[in-house]
Amino acid sequence: MRPVGIRTTRLVLDLPVPADAELVTRYCQDPLFERYLTTPWPYTRADARAFLSEHVPESWASGTELTWALRRVEGGPLLGVISVRDTQHELGFWMGAEHRGEGLMSEAATAVVDWTLDGGIRGATTVLWRAVEGNVASARVARAVGFRRIEPADATVPTRDGTVTLPAWYAVREASVDPAAHASWDAVLGAAA
Ligand SMILES: CC(C)(COP(=O)(O)OP(=O)(O)OC[C@H]1O[C@@H](n2cnc3c(N)ncnc32)[C@H](O)[C@@H]1OP(=O)(O)O)[C@@H](O)C(=O)NCCC(=O)NCCS
Repeated sequence: MRPVGIRTTRLVLDLPVPADAELVTRYCQDPLFERYLTTPWPYTRADARAFLSEHVPESWASGTELTWALRRVEGGPLLGVISVRDTQHELGFWMGAEHRGEGLMSEAATAVVDWTLDGGIRGATTVLWRAVEGNVASARVARAVGFRRIEPADATVPTRDGTVTLPAWYAVREASVDPAAHASWDAVLGAAA
């Protein structure tokens, strides 16, 4: 597939490129990434180069994972990254620490999910989200996007080396938001907004 750009009210979602390597390297030093993501740890400049020069373009070309950079303006600095995998249309995202808390990831994720379910990925009827149990910030993004929490029998995710699994939260989103979706989070996020 050829890379597709998406615009939201405050963001441009476009291709992460080799020129983003310095910022990606810096953001990926965040200890939260060691805990919650499967990005390499420790994270080096070579990891960023391989991600941007190989993984991103190759995965667009094969359609195995579609990855966007979040930017405020076209050609501007990368703020974060979001992707959808072909396997179960799983959503993944991270935001550089200094750009969090402004609702930007919720805005980007809403746009990517809508694009996916509106024919961007042919045949996609659901998007999957999952996170290591306790990742409240990610769960709040999923709730804001209209995901409904589900409790599969094997609610785990593999760790970065694949040898162990951790308890995980799972959720799904269909084209129309299930009216029960928001309340499905009460058990883990509390009933308050
Ligand atoms: C998860 C993450 C992408 C959220 O990015 P963000 O831009 O701050 O998200 P938003 O500003 O859209 O916030 C979405 C919700 O999360 C809440 N939130 C943001 N940071 C939070 C934190 N540290 N703790 C608790 N809630 C938090 C916001 O209040 C908001 O909640 P609301 O919609 O219920 O009001 C970011 O925290 C991150 O990169 N974390 C590390 C990587 C990661 O865990 N990725 C997800 C893996 S599954």
